[in-house]
Amino acid sequence: MDWLIILQAVWFILPAYIANMTPPLLSKIKFIQGFNKPMDFGRNFSDGKRIFGEGKTWLGFILGIICGTIFGFAQSFAAFEPKMSLLLAFLLSSGGLTGDLVKSFFKRRVGLERGKSWPVMDQLDFVVAAFAFSLFVFPFNWKYFLVVIVLTPILHLVTNIIGWKLGFKKEPW
Ligand code: CTP
Ligand code: MG
Repeated sequence: MDWLIILQAVWFILPAYIANMTPPLLSKIKFIQGFNKPMDFGRNFSDGKRIFGEGKTWLGFILGIICGTIFGFAQSFAAFEPKMSLLLAFLLSSGGLTGDLVKSFFKRRVGLERGKSWPVMDQLDFVVAAFAFSLFVFPFNWKYFLVVIVLTPILHLVTNIIGWKLGFKKEPW
C-alpha cells in the first residue's frame, strides 16, 4: 500500500470537500439565512415536485465555491504534488456543488424528499462531478479517483458520527 497516494488524492480533492462542507455549516447561521433563497425559488418541475428543493440555496452554492477556491488557492503555495492552482480549485469546488445540485434534481424526480438519504449518491455525487470538472485542466488520474471513491463514504461516516457525538446531528448517519 502506497500511503503517499492517499495523501495526494486527499490533497487533490480537498477544495471539493471544503466546498461541500460549507453550505451545511452556513445553514446554521441565522443572520445569513435571512437573505438566502432556494436555487429553484420555490418552483416546481412538471411532475409537480420541487425542482431542487429547499436544501439547495444560492448562498450555499456561491459561498461554497468561494470557500473551496480560496482554500485551494492557499494550497497552491505549498510545494506538494499534485500542484493545486486557483483554477483547479475553482473547477473542483464548482464541480462538486454542481454535482450536489444535479443529484438533488434526480432525488426529487424519484420522489425522495429534501434531506431523505439516498445512499451512495449522497456521498459520491460531488466527488464524481468534481473530477469531471477538473478534466479541463488536470489529466484524469484513476489512482486518485479510486482512493477518493473508497475514502469519501468512510470519511462521511466518521464525520457524521463525530457530529452526532458533539450534538450537531440527531442521527449518527
Ligand atoms: N445547502 C445549501 N445550499 C446548497 C447545498 C446545501 O444551503 N447548494 C445546505 C442546506 O441547508 C442543506 C444542507 O446544506 O439542507 C445539507 O446539504 P445536503 O445534504 O446536500 O442537502 P439536503 O437538505 O439533504 O437536501 P437533498 O435531499 O436535496 O440532498
Ligand atoms: Mg442530505
